Amino acid sequence: MITRRRFLSQSTLIAASSAVARAMVHNSHAVAPPVVPNLDPDTLARFVDPLPLPQLAQPIERRMAPDGSGERVPFYRVPMRAISAKLHRDLPPTNLWAFGGSVPGVLFDTRSGEGRLIEWANELPQKHFLPIDHNLHGAEKNVPEVRGVVHLHGGKTPAESDGYPEDWYVPGQSRTYYYPNRQDAALLWYHDHAMGINRLNIYAGLFGLYIVRDSVEDALHLPSGKYEIPLVLMDRNLRPDGQLSYPVSPDPERPWVPEAFGEAQLVNGKLFPYLDVEPRLYRFRILNAANGRFYRLSLSNGAQMQQIGTDQGLLPAPVALKYVQLAPGERADVIVDFSVHRGEKLQLMSEPFELMQFRVSNAAVSDVGAVPAALRPVPRIAESSAVLTRRLTLDESLNMVAESMGMLLNKTPWHAPIAEKPVLNTTEIWELVNLTEDVHPIHLHLVRFQILDRRRFDVFDYMTANKLRFTSPPMRPDANEMGWKDTVRVNSGTVTRIIVPFVGYAGRYIWHCHILEHEENEMMRPYEVLRAGSSS
Ligand code: C2O
Ligand code: CU
Ligand code: CU
Repeated sequence: MITRRRFLSQSTLIAASSAVARAMVHNSHAVAPPVVPNLDPDTLARFVDPLPLPQLAQPIERRMAPDGSGERVPFYRVPMRAISAKLHRDLPPTNLWAFGGSVPGVLFDTRSGEGRLIEWANELPQKHFLPIDHNLHGAEKNVPEVRGVVHLHGGKTPAESDGYPEDWYVPGQSRTYYYPNRQDAALLWYHDHAMGINRLNIYAGLFGLYIVRDSVEDALHLPSGKYEIPLVLMDRNLRPDGQLSYPVSPDPERPWVPEAFGEAQLVNGKLFPYLDVEPRLYRFRILNAANGRFYRLSLSNGAQMQQIGTDQGLLPAPVALKYVQLAPGERADVIVDFSVHRGEKLQLMSEPFELMQFRVSNAAVSDVGAVPAALRPVPRIAESSAVLTRRLTLDESLNMVAESMGMLLNKTPWHAPIAEKPVLNTTEIWELVNLTEDVHPIHLHLVRFQILDRRRFDVFDYMTANKLRFTSPPMRPDANEMGWKDTVRVNSGTVTRIIVPFVGYAGRYIWHCHILEHEENEMMRPYEVLRAGSSS
């Protein structure tokens, strides 16, 4: 009979916790102290830069949609290129990679049902400036250093335009992708997805926002125009000269680290920005674009916010919250009422960090705005409508030979044959069994889903006897998770169940953890939506 403790320390294949696994590989994946110590953001003056707002993407012309509809749709060309930008008044400009001229990149403001054609042009330099790990799948020494491919996160996109990680292309090349926009109003985001270097490309700045609007949302008369503000959160480590520093392991041959956290918290690409606001309601469209950091947003005076939307659009009703939690990849649509904070200054926090400041004016406001009590119905999907339930584990694994640690989905590496093959227009339940000590935000491309429940189970029993023994009753999703989602937090030691209608398009897609360091090594798997009647 083995004890829990011995089981954990003797396992050579699967370690239950990344902490244990890290210790077991002689700390080879500990984070090495940077050669030059990182800049301490606390030494910088706070709230001296206004909050930047991303520029609107401008179409060049109308072109024929490639879907045979005969429709002419707006066509854009967006370069990925090296830029430099000031992240703070008192810092020298930082070298970044961007879509267009800024990080976050150009903002797409689009309508549901109106397609968009976008040429994503790779105009990046030939050399990468962040530490590539050539041991990672897809980043071997014989593949080009600089590669890119664009994915629209949350987009119901045909497979050939979805940005499959192996469909990367090199500087000088471009791809034109079609986004039909046949989906509800939501805040989506686009980002690089190149196999093996995705975490570095996104850290460098390759991402931006893509808004879809529709008539249901219009009818709610939510705060709009200058009262609707995107907030993109990310953390970075900076050197004292202002340049990006991505953490590395102590092994120069294997620089990959299991998580990359930055000390500097940026909002829309600035450190400690401020925003002047009127004493009225504002709508904030918030994205967690960090590689691995979870945010827990609050206002410094403890005031409540009203969350009105999540990843895939509006919630059925507003949810009043003191804290809004966001895992990497998740979005929140949040209303803040500044009318009760006339003349005050309040900070947006993610404790212990101050992210930015709101300066509420004393201006006379004739209409402070309102939030309707009902937003958009989100009918719950009946479990009985699912044709299949898949049990899929989230694992952390240890390769004693390579002395490296990786993360897997269902104990299967990226390059293994496709196992998940849902049939188009059917609904499935996916039970995500988290055997690790980390929370993993799991994202599926193409689809939106609903969270059914979370339930604790005995990890030890599962790992030794392959037996699922629950230790808690099922827990309902949080009130602000009762909308359509595309990324779900799968807590440690829980089974998180989601119900997923596979609608839209047949073809090959992916699902993965949105902690980018996990995704890269190798918590990412392809899946394929089969046309009804086709054989698997
Ligand atoms: Cu944000 Cu594979 O996606
Ligand atoms: Cu996605
Ligand atoms: Cu993960």
